[in-house]
Amino acid sequence: MAAAASPFCVAGTRVVVLRAAGECVGCRRPLSSPPGATVWSGRMLYPAGMTAPISLNAGGSLYDRIGPEALAALVTRFYTLVASDPLLAPIFPQDLSVTAEKQLAFLTGFLGGPPLYHERFGHPRLRARHLPFPITPARARAWLACMQAALRDTPQIGTDDARELYAALSRVAVHMVNTDGVASAP
Ligand code: HEM
Repeated sequence: MAAAASPFCVAGTRVVVLRAAGECVGCRRPLSSPPGATVWSGRMLYPAGMTAPISLNAGGSLYDRIGPEALAALVTRFYTLVASDPLLAPIFPQDLSVTAEKQLAFLTGFLGGPPLYHERFGHPRLRARHLPFPITPARARAWLACMQAALRDTPQIGTDDARELYAALSRVAVHMVNTDGVASAP
C-alpha cells in the first residue's frame, strides 16, 4: 500500500492533498520526493511518522463508507461534549460553530473525501495551529474520550469504521500534545 519514495509538498506541510500528479492542492507548487514520505492512497499523502486512516479496501475510503451526514452528526456531537468537558472547554471558544465547521471540512479530506479544508483554509499545519493552546496529555485524552463518546452516540457509523476512525485520530492527537502541563496547568 505504501510507496517508499513519494511526492511531498515543498512547503513542508504535514498533510498534503494531491490535486493531480505533481502538484500540491494547497500551495499549487510542484512536489518533490524527500525520503520517508509515504503515500497511503491516491489522495492523501503523509510524511513518515504520520499514518493515515485511508484504506484502499473495497468499499472505498472511510469517508465513502461513513458519508457526509454521519460525519456531520459526529462532529456536532463531539463539540457538544467538548463544550461541557472541564479540561477542554476553557481552551475552546464559547461559540464552537466555526471550529466545528473547520473540523468537518478537515475530517472530510482526512478521511478521503473532497479536500474542503485545504481549499478554504490552505494547509492544515495542525500542530502549528494548535501551538497557541496548552495541550497536555490529559487534554489529549479528554479530546479522545469526547470523540469516543461521540462515535458511540452516532449509530450511523458502524463499529469497524468507528474503530478505524478512532485509531487514526488517536495517532494525530499524540502529535498535538505541546506541553507536559507542569508549567501550565492542568
Ligand atoms: C489532542 C487534543 C486536541 C485538543 C486539546 C485540540 C484543541 C483545539 C483547539 C483549542 C482548537 C482551536 C479552536 C478555535 O479557536 O476555533 C482546535 C482547532 C482545530 N483542531 Fe484541534 N485539538 C486536539 C486534537 C485535534 C486533532 C486530533 C485534530 C484532527 C484530527 C484536530 C483538528 C483541528 C482542526 C482542523 C482545528 C481548526 C483549525 C483552524 O483554526 O483552522 N484537533 N483544536
